[in-house]
Amino acid sequence: MAENSLNAVDPEIAELIRAEERRQADTVKLIASENYVSKAVLEATGTVLTNKYSEGYPGKRYYEGQQVIDQIETIAIERAKAVFGVNHANVQPYSGSPANLAIYMAFLKPGDTVLGMGLPFGGHLTHGWSVSATGKWFNPVRYGVRKDTGRIDMDEVRALALEHRPKLIFCGGTAIPRTIDFPAFAEIAREVDAVLAADIAHIAGLIAGGAHPSPVGYADVISTTTHKTLRGPRGAMLMATSDEHATALNKAVFPGLQGGPHNHTTAAIAVALREASQPEFKAYAAQVVKNAKALAEELASRGFDLVSGGTDNHLILMDLTPKGVGGKPAAQALDRAGLETNYNAVPFDTRKPFDPSGIRIGTPSVTSRGMGEAEMRQIGAWMDEVVTAVAKGDAEDVIARVHNEVSELTAKFPAPGLS
Ligand SMILES: Cc1ncc(COP(=O)(O)O)c(C=O)c1O
Repeated sequence: MAENSLNAVDPEIAELIRAEERRQADTVKLIASENYVSKAVLEATGTVLTNKYSEGYPGKRYYEGQQVIDQIETIAIERAKAVFGVNHANVQPYSGSPANLAIYMAFLKPGDTVLGMGLPFGGHLTHGWSVSATGKWFNPVRYGVRKDTGRIDMDEVRALALEHRPKLIFCGGTAIPRTIDFPAFAEIAREVDAVLAADIAHIAGLIAGGAHPSPVGYADVISTTTHKTLRGPRGAMLMATSDEHATALNKAVFPGLQGGPHNHTTAAIAVALREASQPEFKAYAAQVVKNAKALAEELASRGFDLVSGGTDNHLILMDLTPKGVGGKPAAQALDRAGLETNYNAVPFDTRKPFDPSGIRIGTPSVTSRGMGEAEMRQIGAWMDEVVTAVAKGDAEDVIARVHNEVSELTAKFPAPGLS
């Protein structure tokens, strides 16, 4: 063991990292916003690039010694432009929330109106929800979904836009199981002269792989995290077609909101984008959607109440009320059985956000492990067994048995990046 290795310097943290690696390997990860990055992305993340300060942009920095970093950031930008078909990309936002805040900084003044999807309907905190800075410092107006269809009501979006004349409209979100209608949002934004921001954090990998329509040509600006379906490191990007929007975004990111970019993350984003441009990634994105549909069908056939009745993408949102159990106790029992999910509010939820009626699941991670539709049907059956047992108040034996069966499955499908 090298004297200065992590094991030698901090055995406590080293062991916890190994424990997390074992946990990730042994769990069927159904969290819709997570994934397993490749060994190559992991390697780029843990490099000496973390030592370097690079305030500014390639060719225009405030620190010397950027001979290498400028090349890395330029490669990341060029790959983002190629993968998404945009004219401009900024790869510096620290994560999705700061990226979205940069959009406000670029186009709004405090107090200006933003129209975004309400959090309980599937929008993100940063789309103007009350507890977020975006809801406190701006004037948020919120759209939702129709009660009868569980889908975004574009008539409501248009009516709200005409009434409130927002300067910014967000589309996209964090718990939306259906395709986003970018052309319809663009038409409404044009009608009221608002900037249209497409937040594709969840579906970026599907868009890159051709499994979801692209907002390019419709949205003025696009924000995305890089660590969900796109399968990169924790980070974010902002993209635009026009020079004017791109200049405003660049100024908002630096010096508006951030200092030095995280260069190790930038390198890992470049690697992930290279992976996303390969033919295998197209197949991956298509399989993510096929798997989600197979899992949704299995769950629906077992009496689960799926918001909107199913899914078009990687994500399923379920109301567990008909199963007689809340989202939180269900998610906790599933986790003990080796099936990792998150509890989630559902549209028109009558329960509290920390103890909501639903759970949200997704297929990006299981698909990265090489699982297919047959495994999705098995996972749906296990979820049903565990949730039904929890509702009956007698789940211990079922949890123990399912956990054993889950371990047998995960052993057959090694996760990328884990040793
Ligand atoms: C749609 C959407 N936008 C933005 C974010 C924020 O990303 P981060 O958690 O990296 O700040 C998320 C995260 O879940 C998201 O789902």
